[in-house]
Amino acid sequence: MNPTPSTPLQRFLTGITTTGTPHLGNFVGSIRPSVAASRLPGVQSFYFLADYHALIKCDDPSRIQRSTLEIAASWLAAGLDPERVMFYRQSDIPEIPELTWLLTCVTGKGVLNRAHAYKASVDRNEAAGNDPDADVTAGLFMYPVLMGADILMFKAHKVPVGRDQIQHIEMARDMAQRFNHLYGEHLVLPEAQIEESVALLPGLDGRKMSKSYDNTIPLFTPRDQLRKLINGIVTDSRAPAEAKDTEGSALFQIYQAFASESETSALRQAYADGIGWGDAKQMLFERIDQEVAPMRERYQALIGNPQDIEQLLQAGAEKARAVATPFMGELRRAVGLRNLGSAAPSAAKSKAVKAAAPAFKQYREKDGRFYFKLLDADGRLLLQSQGFGTPKEAAVVIGSLQKEGLAALPALPGLLETTPGPALEELARALAFFNAPPA
Ligand code: TRP
Repeated sequence: MNPTPSTPLQRFLTGITTTGTPHLGNFVGSIRPSVAASRLPGVQSFYFLADYHALIKCDDPSRIQRSTLEIAASWLAAGLDPERVMFYRQSDIPEIPELTWLLTCVTGKGVLNRAHAYKASVDRNEAAGNDPDADVTAGLFMYPVLMGADILMFKAHKVPVGRDQIQHIEMARDMAQRFNHLYGEHLVLPEAQIEESVALLPGLDGRKMSKSYDNTIPLFTPRDQLRKLINGIVTDSRAPAEAKDTEGSALFQIYQAFASESETSALRQAYADGIGWGDAKQMLFERIDQEVAPMRERYQALIGNPQDIEQLLQAGAEKARAVATPFMGELRRAVGLRNLGSAAPSAAKSKAVKAAAPAFKQYREKDGRFYFKLLDADGRLLLQSQGFGTPKEAAVVIGSLQKEGLAALPALPGLLETTPGPALEELARALAFFNAPPA
């Protein structure tokens, strides 16, 4: 259905960290579906090169520059239309680090302590008997706030991400909520969009294709190299003429990600009929090359003219800043970074006053378990649950907290994690609200 002219545009936003060279897994999992989505009617898409994020992971300047060029060229070669979408480089938008600071000031440190990436580093350090923060930069710690600024700056509604990023979107939401509560409704609350159907591509060794496993096939590797790499995909030792198993076959899964349904069933039949591994690899090579070859040609032309890409990104930055600069001005005024000549509000409370109430929030994490947290009227975290097997179990615990308040705690050992900051008294007051909300 086409949206009527009055349908508001849904804004989608995606960032790509500029630390590597795109491989077939990135193409199937991110580039191809994103380019397709950017062509849908009723959608406004923002794609940006997250080069500030890259600095958190990479201290090799030439690699950052090279990767930025390669990723920009890859997205363009794959059909991203910079006329149709906002395509820009994060570091060309100084309003993003500026907004990062405003958000830093409304983000609880305890919330960042619980961010998965940071926590994983701390856990690793502790397991190794090191200082918990050994080799952890403040950049890694602040990663979610920078990401929140990326998203909130452009009032994105939807952020297509993998499961590992859901927590970051949740955090961006919480930052927006807290900011709006303090300063009025300025920020749009974003939602994660999880692409369930997108295939996870196996790599050369059968594990998930990933740079960290060193098992990737670069998307635009030359034809000969592509053939060589495909010949190196693991198979079992069945001889030609023996029937082969499609289950667990990396070769088959990669083929499936590129082929039509009928092509896929033809290969399934060939497996059953005992196709030799050499022939199957030849089929896979031809199928991928058929799709990639025209893009590869465009890619080579683009990479050969970095000045053109630079110009295109500058034009993108101009479009993006046409949104970001006035919006940042609005936010600066909202928080009180104002021209002193402008009329000052009376000394009386000028804050946006909200009918504020504490709230329980239930959600599911990527570990598949069900969690809840209790936020106070200001959106601060008062209570964090452990994971439950079902939403029902979580709801039962919420129910008893609402009914009994703090008295429920002793009966719930290990289920809850109270934040070190706010005193139990604050928690008690928030819980009391549910038992007797003000009329
Ligand atoms: N963190 C994302 C990743 O590693 C990259 C990213 C940075 C991003 N800023 C973003 C993704 C904003 C979506 C929205 O994949």
